[in-house]
Amino acid sequence: MNKRIWLSPPHMGGTEQKYVDEAFVTNWIAPLGPNVDAFEDSLARYCCVEHAVALNSGTAAIHLALIMLGVGQADEVIASSFTFSATVNPITYLGATPILIDSEPETWNMSPDLLEVAIKDRITKRSKPKAIILVHLYGMPANITRIMEIANRYEIPVIEDVAEALGSLYQGKPLGSFGKMSVLSFNGNKIITTSGGGALVSNDKDLIAKARFLAMQARDAANHYQHSQIGYNYRMSNILAGIGRGQMEVIDQRIKQRRDNFLFYKKNLQDYEGISFLDEPDESYYSNHWLTTILIDAAKTGKTREEIRIAMEKENIETRPLWKPMQLQPVFSTCPMFSNGISEKLFAEGLCLPSGSNMTKEDRQRVISVIKRNLV
Ligand SMILES: Cc1ncc(COP(=O)(O)O)c(C=O)c1O
Repeated sequence: MNKRIWLSPPHMGGTEQKYVDEAFVTNWIAPLGPNVDAFEDSLARYCCVEHAVALNSGTAAIHLALIMLGVGQADEVIASSFTFSATVNPITYLGATPILIDSEPETWNMSPDLLEVAIKDRITKRSKPKAIILVHLYGMPANITRIMEIANRYEIPVIEDVAEALGSLYQGKPLGSFGKMSVLSFNGNKIITTSGGGALVSNDKDLIAKARFLAMQARDAANHYQHSQIGYNYRMSNILAGIGRGQMEVIDQRIKQRRDNFLFYKKNLQDYEGISFLDEPDESYYSNHWLTTILIDAAKTGKTREEIRIAMEKENIETRPLWKPMQLQPVFSTCPMFSNGISEKLFAEGLCLPSGSNMTKEDRQRVISVIKRNLV
C-alpha cells in the first residue's frame, strides 16, 4: 500500500521541543507561564493588534467573545452559513439564535448584499442582531471593506473567525486586525498547531483582560476562592504554548509552502474544463491557502466530486468535501437563513485537496496523477 497522504497534518519546525523541554526543566507544567506570555506576544504582533489571550480552543475564544458582547437568551447573532459548525455552536451555548448568511461567489465568504438584507429584516421583525461572526474560510479573506462598512453603519460589532486564515492579508493588513475581537485556532490541522488550542486577539485591552478572567474560572481578587460571575476553564497550558512558540518561528515558511501547493495544483489542472479554484479576486486579497480547494463540474469533467474523492481514497490519499453549510445541518436547519444557493452548490461540487506544508514533490505529483487519471 502507498504511504498515506493526509489532508493537513501537523508540521513541526524544530524548536517546539526546546520550549516544551524548558517548561519541564523549570517545572512550569501549569496553565500559564513564560511560554504562554511569549506565545501571546508573538500572536498579537503577528496580527498587528495590541493584545492576545491564549485559550484551549478556537471554539472557546468564540464563546468568550460572544459572552463579552453581552449575547444571551433571546438575542440573535449573524454568522456565515458556509463554515465549520464550531463557528456557530457557541451562539447556541448562550441560548441565542444564529442568523445564517450565504456566500458571495468571489470569496465563498459572507455575502455583503445578503448581510444587509438580513440586518434590515431582523430589525423590522425582531431586534438588531447582537454581533456578526465573519469567517475567512480556507484562508481567503472575506470582502472586509463592504462587510465592515455595513456593520459600522448599523453599529453591530464584528468577530472575525480567523481559525483557517492566520497570516492572510486584506489590503496588506493581517486578518484578525479588523474586527472588535478575532478568533484563532491551533487545532491539529491548522496552518500552525499546538495540537489543540486557540486565542482571542483584540486592540481592546479591557476585553482581553476580561477574557483572561473568564477563562480562569472568573476568580475575584481575594485570598480565598471567590466568584461573583460564572467562569470557564479555557486557558492554554504552558506546555502547549511552547509548541505554539516554536510554530510561530516558522509560520511564514508554512504560508509559503501552502501557497506553493495551490500554485502547483493550479498549474497542473487549470487546462481541465470543469475544474475551478478559489482564486484571490484582486490584489486586495492575499490568502494563506490553508487548504487548496477545487470545484468539479461533473457535466464537464465526467466525474462527480464524490467519485474523485473515492478514487483518491483508494490510492490512500485523504481529501474532503467542502464544509457542509449550516442550513443543511440537522441542528441548524430551523435557523433563519438568507440564501442565494451558493454554499449548497459549493458543497455539492467542492473538494479539499491534500495541502500540508510538509508535502513532498512526489506526494503532490501522486495527487495530480490520480485526479488526471479520473478526468476526461
Ligand atoms: C472556521 C472555523 N472556526 C472555528 C474553528 C474552531 O477551532 P477549534 O477547533 O480550535 O475549536 C475551526 C476549526 O476547528 C474552524 O475551521
